[in-house]
Amino acid sequence: MAIRTILHYPDPCLRERARDIDEVDDTLRKLIEDMAETMYDAPGVGLAAPQIGESVRLFIVDVAGEDDPSDLRVFINPEIVDKNGEQIFQEGCLSFPGVYEDITRAAEVKVRATDENGASFELEADGLLAVAIQHENDHLDGVLMLDHLGVLKKRIVHRKMLKHGR
Ligand code: NI
Repeated sequence: MAIRTILHYPDPCLRERARDIDEVDDTLRKLIEDMAETMYDAPGVGLAAPQIGESVRLFIVDVAGEDDPSDLRVFINPEIVDKNGEQIFQEGCLSFPGVYEDITRAAEVKVRATDENGASFELEADGLLAVAIQHENDHLDGVLMLDHLGVLKKRIVHRKMLKHGR
């Protein structure tokens, strides 16, 4: 396993639409291990492959509390198939160090994806897990937390990242 470098905004890789994953093999599982190690080291509750420069449709989340056992979930080629309600949560992103902003998202989501063993699954999530799934899924389409902010906040965060981001 290896801790990988997390790309920071405005790295252009973060803006790409990631491509589908054709095969869940050992190479992919190695990438997942690296992502987990990188996420726990940061530390963060989610990490998408494009954030470490791998433009493929894969993200991981672990929203377990500090004192709880880990709850790593792997989403390959995910698709959010249903959304309900609304919640506001103060989000951070490992690609925006030091930035925390209130973002409005769906309160509940239903997601379909493939796991690290190649099995497809469906999951209904709410609360922080729903936030993390929506945030990380955005990364696969090159959408960033910045894009959920109003014009003024967007400009402030953009400037802050240009100044301190690297
Ligand atoms: Ni993020």
